[in-house]
Amino acid sequence: MSSSISLCRLHMGGRSGLEKCFKKLNARIQRRLGTNVVAARREHLTKDVTLTEQRAEYRSFEAVQAERLEQAERSVLIGCPNNLNEKKVLAYLSRHGDINKCFFYENYGIYAVVEYADKGSIASLHEGTAIPSVDHESMVPFKSRLLSLRSLGPVEPPNSKAGLQFQPQTTIPVNLLVQKLSGEESIGQQITTLREAYQLTEENIRLRFLVCSLLKDIAAAYFPECTVRPFGSSVNGLGKLGCDLDMFLDLNVIGGRNMALPKAGFSLEYQMKQDNSERAVTQNILSVIGDCVNHFGAGCVGVMKILNARCPLIRFAHQPSDFQCDLTANNRVAMKCTELLYLYGELDQRVRSLAFAVRCWARVHGITSSIPGAWITNFSLTVMLLFFLQRRSTPIIPTLDDLRDVAGPTDRSVIEGNDCTFVSDFTKIRHQGNTETSEQLLYDFFEFYGTFAFDRMSINIRKGKEQNKPEGAPLHIQNPFEPSLNISKNVDVKQLGRFVTLCQESSWLLQQAENKAPQAAGGAAKATPWGLASLLLPSQEPKGIKGRKTRKREPASEGIKSLLESLKKTS
Ligand code: UTP
Ligand code: MG
Repeated sequence: MSSSISLCRLHMGGRSGLEKCFKKLNARIQRRLGTNVVAARREHLTKDVTLTEQRAEYRSFEAVQAERLEQAERSVLIGCPNNLNEKKVLAYLSRHGDINKCFFYENYGIYAVVEYADKGSIASLHEGTAIPSVDHESMVPFKSRLLSLRSLGPVEPPNSKAGLQFQPQTTIPVNLLVQKLSGEESIGQQITTLREAYQLTEENIRLRFLVCSLLKDIAAAYFPECTVRPFGSSVNGLGKLGCDLDMFLDLNVIGGRNMALPKAGFSLEYQMKQDNSERAVTQNILSVIGDCVNHFGAGCVGVMKILNARCPLIRFAHQPSDFQCDLTANNRVAMKCTELLYLYGELDQRVRSLAFAVRCWARVHGITSSIPGAWITNFSLTVMLLFFLQRRSTPIIPTLDDLRDVAGPTDRSVIEGNDCTFVSDFTKIRHQGNTETSEQLLYDFFEFYGTFAFDRMSINIRKGKEQNKPEGAPLHIQNPFEPSLNISKNVDVKQLGRFVTLCQESSWLLQQAENKAPQAAGGAAKATPWGLASLLLPSQEPKGIKGRKTRKREPASEGIKSLLESLKKTS
């Protein structure tokens, strides 16, 4: 975390006072912060750090989520003028209370995320915030925590922006990543560097929770006790800067659901509207919330209601954050999947590093795509990686059944008849002592799936064993919590074939002398892409590697065909 972005109430008593204030607050924030500080520390773990120390840092998924949601409730998102003077702006905002953290980012303009120490400051801020005077009549007077700061009076000197530090919200382009990786000394280092360059930053995670919190304010007009929580790659530890924001409108937190009734006397209950099914209720709620997001949600554009999907959702773009958002309701199994992936990632740092490498590789070669279709999804790919790590002769991670067996009474969870129980406290999980390097594992991953019997076998992380395929889908990956479902049902023979071929090619590429680490090949740092970097080169370029087959890029028409097929299936 950068030290220049934490602020408390500003005393305009000169630089040194301000620095002291920064330091004090930084220490406070470091103590308060959740996962990312832990993650950042873990990134720098050396082999000397004992497992006990790692485990002592562990905080459960629930605890981290609760803390971040609460943090977001005390935060506001402010569009700022270009000629911004940071010190003056913060002095102005801190009139409403102490500021715990503030950072700036650029997205077609400057934005500030401001976290107050106390929730009461938000009420004070709202009191001092005006409704825009321009076109007053045509404004929906919905007061949210997305604000605009106007600069009045004399214009600030143009250089006032120069000192501002912007937090990046997107990843570096692949060609720059390839360059960066080529300068590393080993494939293991390349894998770590790729993860560091791509993973969500502390600030980006805060922004994601803040957008959820802004959405919650809209839903709270109907359901004051509801929460909106992020799930998927925003919080499972595998998110890449720029990934979508999956949100879950949780109405189960509404009080009074399991209230014990007295044995005698009276009791009151709410009269409530009923519908045909839970699914119909979810669709109706999402439909209404979707309309509110569309009509009242400042910054929310392109709202689409996708209510007939297996999991009904509202899709829209949140312009100030640049997040593509999916809002679902009643999707607790997905939340459990998210927690499971988070737990596996926390168990062993090789899990996340390899997941970033494989997900990036798959994206570069069009194995995964942001367009729905017959492609393998990031979620499926991650489950495949977990399965591979369970299948090592000394497993790197335990099976889901193992995690269930060590679960405590409070971990018990049954959702729609499915047993979703697994341990939430990883100090209860025994490490098996696998010491393979991530370089070796990356190579073996490609070899494993380059030769896997997809025609007969199904992938199952609950058992950690291949099983006979129950149906004819080309790729069968059992949903960890809903065993009757195949999470890769959408994948067709052609896309699976491309994946297998690319795995074979990549394992072959990694074996080539020119792709070994510079020292191993007896040379100094290489200018040409090698190792993991060579796997990220666009498919059609042979880059002079003798004997390497030239991959043909899929004609655009093929991509469009798959898209049309998927749309046909959906409709
Ligand atoms: P996404 O497809 O958005 O995946 O599903 P993701 O993990 O967030 O990855 P990217 O970065 O967006 O591509 C969101 C979450 O929904 C659950 C998983 O928890 C997944 O992380 N999910 C998805 C399921 O439970 N089952 C599925 O078949 C698909
Ligand atoms: Mg997602």
